[in-house]
Amino acid sequence: MQFEVVAKCHTTRARVSKMRLAHGTTMLPTFMPVATQAAIKGLTPQQVEALGINLILNNTYHLNLRPGIQVLKEAGGAHKFQGWSHNLLTDSGGFQLVSLSKFTKITEEGALFASPFDGKPTMLTPEESISIQHAIGADIIMQLDDVVSSLTVGPRVEEAMWRTIRWLDRCIEFHQKSGRDDVQNLFAIVQGGLNPDLRDKCLDEMIARRDRVAGYAIGGLSGGEEKDVFWRVIKQCADKLPEDRPRYSMGIGFAEDLLVCVALGVDMADCVFPTRTARFGVALTPTGPLNLRLSKHAIDFRPIEEGCPCPTCANGVSRAILHHNATLETATAHAITQHNLVFQARIMGGARDAIINGTFPDYLKSFFAKYFGDAG
Ligand code: GUN
Ligand code: ZN
Repeated sequence: MQFEVVAKCHTTRARVSKMRLAHGTTMLPTFMPVATQAAIKGLTPQQVEALGINLILNNTYHLNLRPGIQVLKEAGGAHKFQGWSHNLLTDSGGFQLVSLSKFTKITEEGALFASPFDGKPTMLTPEESISIQHAIGADIIMQLDDVVSSLTVGPRVEEAMWRTIRWLDRCIEFHQKSGRDDVQNLFAIVQGGLNPDLRDKCLDEMIARRDRVAGYAIGGLSGGEEKDVFWRVIKQCADKLPEDRPRYSMGIGFAEDLLVCVALGVDMADCVFPTRTARFGVALTPTGPLNLRLSKHAIDFRPIEEGCPCPTCANGVSRAILHHNATLETATAHAITQHNLVFQARIMGGARDAIINGTFPDYLKSFFAKYFGDAG
């Protein structure tokens, strides 16, 4: 990976950088849409590419279940399998420890999952997570981490933090021995819950391994904690992480959170929110989310957002027709999904431009005034 900071904001920690990977260059800060099962729900890879998106995310746990490593290997990796020629990041499966916690048991060796198909237990070890991510062939791969919900308190949080460090060492060792560490870039994931002391210890340990990791993620957040607590953890981590490595906040996708994270020095973020909410009929706009299922849109013939360059708005698709079809038509979900991904990309693109032009604080101010004002 080549990572270069090209511009910095003078009043916040925001920065613009260039991240060059095997499948192209991605400008940061960026939002990464989630294609858990090797597809962004409802869109073809060509449609995603046409939106100007060049970095998406797949999930190791899910791709290992279906289609499985053998198919991925025979396809020549996940890029070829899903017809995506741009950059790809895979999450390790660590998050499924939380999202599928009813079906998992954690040991020092790894995470034991019950198969959703036949209930058969399968062990996901740090080595195996990396091995699967090698078969997938993503440009950025994530360590297996021991994730606990951000609302968990007590000794389990500290245990998970230390285990995440031990698992990082196993991931590093397995990855370096594979000889794939020149094309696939391993990221460490900072854990430690909402406890500043635990986060600080985790940061020290992980920063000590900086020569063996390409970048850093901040994990264990966005699980229902208070906003100010969430921001403090992001700030603490982003302040301490090395300047010359990308910083990735995992599972962050609300517009306001993205911009605060960028201001605190975060470079990358991902979330299912924009695509999932689209399928529930909610379009994201500069004046806040718009629930197109509400009857007030029935005779509103304006596009979702005037001046939006997405295929939906640019082609004059009205709120009225989206409302009419909101619960009937898959095409409506596609139309709103495309708009929402362009919305996320424009927030981040606007942030990059403003950082470069020295107007980022103004950009933040006008975004927040509009988003939380009553203009909409
Ligand atoms: N996605 C959202 N949060 C996390 C996290 O803490 N770890 C991993 N692996 N994925 C995540
Ligand atoms: Zn649009």
